[in-house]
Amino acid sequence: MCGIVGYFGKEQATSILVEGLSKLEYRGYDSAGVAVLNDDGKIVVDKCKGRLANLENKLDENPIHGFIGIGHTRWATHGEPSDLNSHPHSNAKGTISVVHNGIIENYIKLREWLMEKGYTFKSETDTEVIPNLIDFYYNGDLLEAVMKTVEKLEGSYALGVVSSEEPDKLIAVRKDSPLIVGVGKGEYFIASDIPAILNHTREVYLLEDKEFVVMDKNGVTILNSNKEKVEKEIYHVTWNADAAEKGGYAHFMLKEIHEQPKAIKDTMTSRIMKNHSIKLDDITITKDQINNIDKIYIVACGTAYHAGVVGKYAIERLARIPVEVDVASEFRYRDPIMNERTLMIVVSQSGETADTLAVLREAKKQNARVIAVTNVVGSTVSREADDVLYTWAGPEIAVASTKAYVTQLIAMYIIALFFAENKNTLSKEELEAIKDEMLLLPEKAKELLENNDKVKTFAEDNYTNRDMFFLGRGLDYAVAMEGSLKLKEISYIHSEAYPAGELKHGPIALIEKGTAVIALATQENLFEKMVSNIKEVKTRGAKVMAFAMEGHKEIEKTVDSAIYIPRTIELLAPVLSVIPLQLLSYYTSIAKGCDVDKPRNLAKSVTVE
Ligand code: F6R
Repeated sequence: MCGIVGYFGKEQATSILVEGLSKLEYRGYDSAGVAVLNDDGKIVVDKCKGRLANLENKLDENPIHGFIGIGHTRWATHGEPSDLNSHPHSNAKGTISVVHNGIIENYIKLREWLMEKGYTFKSETDTEVIPNLIDFYYNGDLLEAVMKTVEKLEGSYALGVVSSEEPDKLIAVRKDSPLIVGVGKGEYFIASDIPAILNHTREVYLLEDKEFVVMDKNGVTILNSNKEKVEKEIYHVTWNADAAEKGGYAHFMLKEIHEQPKAIKDTMTSRIMKNHSIKLDDITITKDQINNIDKIYIVACGTAYHAGVVGKYAIERLARIPVEVDVASEFRYRDPIMNERTLMIVVSQSGETADTLAVLREAKKQNARVIAVTNVVGSTVSREADDVLYTWAGPEIAVASTKAYVTQLIAMYIIALFFAENKNTLSKEELEAIKDEMLLLPEKAKELLENNDKVKTFAEDNYTNRDMFFLGRGLDYAVAMEGSLKLKEISYIHSEAYPAGELKHGPIALIEKGTAVIALATQENLFEKMVSNIKEVKTRGAKVMAFAMEGHKEIEKTVDSAIYIPRTIELLAPVLSVIPLQLLSYYTSIAKGCDVDKPRNLAKSVTVE
């Protein structure tokens, strides 16, 4: 999820590159760098770990002069965020530099092949094979060398390449990673996304896979893999920069909700495979250690805590280990009992939440083993935990967490299955059946996103309500808590989540004519009981929107509006049922005219107690 830019023109390249990168920081921001061809035709690289501001400070102290250059802002995948792993990457002689967004899947093989030929490597990245392959193939024609190189690459890439061998040129190419070309007056740009260049031009070429871009004194030329010129139409950008960063969506939250099918898929990739055991590269806990665990704690804050509640159900049901789940700010002060047979799982999108971090440290002090589930490579929790399971949601910008939550759920299921496999608590058939269903989730999530009219209508009819209640039983209660948090966060409507069976012990006193109630009824074994609870609130005048699995049409007789989620096994239902709840809070917030992406009083990363 990195961002790349390139500039070829008559202005100083560095400031244009840095400005472009600032518009791409949403794609990742753990390190940044530039490579510029200086006035002597040599490549000067400056790059460092951390936010773009760090790079800007370095460049202020040591400016680079030159009119052609490439830049990168990184969201680490291969190798932790560090100065060395930052892009651009270069060949040993420093004559070829490359920025890359994507993943080179066969980089280990390529690296070994290059090492046999005497090449050496400095970083842990997949990218570093690219400048070295270009070096290997370079024979007086940079374009030819880049073309031969991409023939060898498997995976995804958007590349910007400069070389001191041909200092009046910039070459770019893409496959399965975004890249556009900006056309100004006597100046040209490449970028991962349009906002990076909108201050300079609104005329762009949208590149297809394996189209090669050559910028030189003749202007910009686009060629196919046979070196034939491709005639392309200029696309004139009419939207403003702010909207473009959201990829055409009105808000980051909506964009991130729609990114969930991909995020779910990415988080499962290479971990969940048909007829293969669960593969967790970054987890070193052994079978013996798993069998020695007598207690698991899952501790987190806010939305991540809600993912933990689902995790408790999943681990207890599949791996038969007792799990306690708690919010970090409470857990840390309740004198918890832990020892070497305790496993602590901390869940944190940002990996920087102060309370969660304090729990992690307390667990380590008491000799518990710690697994971190986090979305940010190189974050503090990932560095301090014994093991890390990354969620591959990509950078989440909206303050209200959506895609991070569903990937945290996937991480919980993966851990539960991994333990079940190691403890032999499930038969091979049972394990395979759950994995099969998991692999279908991205498609089912996509399906749900295509049908949200009823949710929008309910939001538009109820946004003036003072209160809203979310009810559910079992896993539906866990999702109800998340739905309620989302609604209060971004629409400022008072909302509460209750276990539906608990209602009659007090909260039902709050239900009156017109009270909006969201009822989750996706758990087959609790369906009839849930319908009875819905009747209890309907009798008292509540307006009810219910969520049930496809096929439960009978619920329509009891409720005002029914939403069906694609059929899956009960255990996995939260991944799907949360999606319409996210949309409900989104549309309610819009109807109320609230600031969806930056709700009042909140921050994305809570690094204070
Ligand atoms: C809610 C939300 C917060 C976070 C919480 C923990 O939408 O985003 O409740 O979930 O602050 O943050 P992380 O996961 O970064 O530790």
